[in-house]
Amino acid sequence: MEAINIIESIAEEVIKGLLEKPKQISSKFFYDKKGSEIFRQIMRMPEYYPTDSEAEIFEIHKASLTDFFCKSCEHVDLVELGAGDGAKTRILIKYMLDNNINFRYIPVDISADSNRKLTEDLNKRFNYLRIIEKTGDYFDMIEELSEEYKNRKIIMFLGSNLGNYNREQSIYFLNRLSGMMSKDDKLLIGLDLKKDPEVILKAYNDPHGHTRNFNLNLLERFNRELGADFDIANFKHVPVYDPLGGAAKSYIVSMKKQEVHFKTFDKHIKFEKWEPIYTEMSQKYDMDMISDFAESTGFTIEENFYDSRHYFVNSLWKKI
Ligand code: AVI
Repeated sequence: MEAINIIESIAEEVIKGLLEKPKQISSKFFYDKKGSEIFRQIMRMPEYYPTDSEAEIFEIHKASLTDFFCKSCEHVDLVELGAGDGAKTRILIKYMLDNNINFRYIPVDISADSNRKLTEDLNKRFNYLRIIEKTGDYFDMIEELSEEYKNRKIIMFLGSNLGNYNREQSIYFLNRLSGMMSKDDKLLIGLDLKKDPEVILKAYNDPHGHTRNFNLNLLERFNRELGADFDIANFKHVPVYDPLGGAAKSYIVSMKKQEVHFKTFDKHIKFEKWEPIYTEMSQKYDMDMISDFAESTGFTIEENFYDSRHYFVNSLWKKI
């Protein structure tokens, strides 16, 4: 798609969401260049426990995980959906190389830039690692892989990325995934667990202001790219957590009655005082929810791997 069409289609979706009641913006718009940089800051801060918890799981359980991946198989492909900087996966890669396991690492990402950086970094760190970079839509890439190679695939969807989908979207995603996997393939899914609500809330309302910047960068992005005139000082980052359903939700709340103009598209958006925009959901799970998801989408749980605090789980699923 040409750049101008991309901007138009983003504007159309954003403005449509802002005209809805309640107002909403899809969390997929967080990840422009600046938003991705802020997200890296979030992942490095101690309050954002999912990163450390998942890295700890890989450290503690790398031998057992690897056995489940390929105990007596000839070769295996580690396919990571949305690999990012691959920091956690490096723990598994190193262990598998050190133990002469015959595998290839296949990062799948929508961003060619992020995939290229990851590949360069891994090539520098590991001389003998075989990497096949796949840039594009997750499902298109899995389909391509299944046609090209017949190795067992371990599909990894880490970092509780599933939590950014609602229940319906999650079921759709998992069903599509199981439909594309072969009998022998497995899915390793990283999911954030329900825990002390204070711990969860702090991860989305950190004292450094990174999550606030991440959320409000949406409005800054629309000023930069879509010619909007949001005055950021008039909006507030508001995270909440519902311990019953397990949803952490983020909002941007308008602190006064105001009107914002998308100049390029000549659209006006009115805000009431304290009117929220719903920007993100980060679902936290319990084990019943997880087995329910697995069973209703064609999987069965083979093993669950936890960190020492039981904050997070990496659940290994097989196709039924
Ligand atoms: C990418 N995703 C799993 C993160 C989450 O926890 O929902 C995004 C994030 N939003 C605020 N902090 C981190």
